[in-house]
Amino acid sequence: MKIIEAIDYQDMSKIAADYIIQKVNQSPKIKLGLATGGTPLGIYANIIADHQKNGTSYRDVMTFNLDEYVGLSGENPNSYRYYMDHNLFNQIDINKNNTFVPRGTTDNVLNECALYEDLLTKHNGIDLQILGIGANGHIGFNEPGTPFNTATHVVELTASTRQANARYFNSLEEVPTKALTMGIATIMKSKEILLLISGEQKKDALKRLLTENTIDERFPASVLKNHPYVTIIADKTAIAGLKVHS
Ligand code: F6R
Repeated sequence: MKIIEAIDYQDMSKIAADYIIQKVNQSPKIKLGLATGGTPLGIYANIIADHQKNGTSYRDVMTFNLDEYVGLSGENPNSYRYYMDHNLFNQIDINKNNTFVPRGTTDNVLNECALYEDLLTKHNGIDLQILGIGANGHIGFNEPGTPFNTATHVVELTASTRQANARYFNSLEEVPTKALTMGIATIMKSKEILLLISGEQKKDALKRLLTENTIDERFPASVLKNHPYVTIIADKTAIAGLKVHS
């Protein structure tokens, strides 16, 4: 795993966005894996600014999101489909038909998981996956204890993850209890992974990732050590006190 040290959140977002933009320019048909949450917002803002200023085109880009809450439709402002439309897709020239987020409101969530996995296989998988990380090491919604061989599946969200995400809802009770998520095996099939880590709350997760040698299902992100092409971009607050070799 290569690590790039950013000064702060803004710097991390700019470095990551520039990297993605460069990849899109090199490969206009690139398939991007996208994340939601607080971490990638700055990246998306930079991508939009660059699109407006420099005209980088996303016309032929395909995107696949990591996850979605069960029970929320794309019109619900807390759904990840809504987040993606409003924070990125509506402001660039991407063809919405080429943007995929698991559907949280299907009658058959298990079938939706299988369809999502088939879709990824049909398109030969993701070229560049953007990841955030939970304080407990989750990636996507793969909580500690998730077997590393899982494909896209339905998860019961842990109390800590619901608590962390409650800031976007009116109350904790409104946070869905289940989500659809790409599995760890799905994420590991991506050809390249960019992991973004920023801030005090992620310090311990980054420390565990960089200092513990074990690869253990109790700390999901540790699986990334088995991936041949991972770049971590972390800011100084998250790195604080760690010796890193970029
Ligand atoms: C989001 C996702 C999650 C987040 C993680 C960090 O699609 O899959 O794993 O990346 O929960 O969230 P933030 O960025 O809000 O700290």
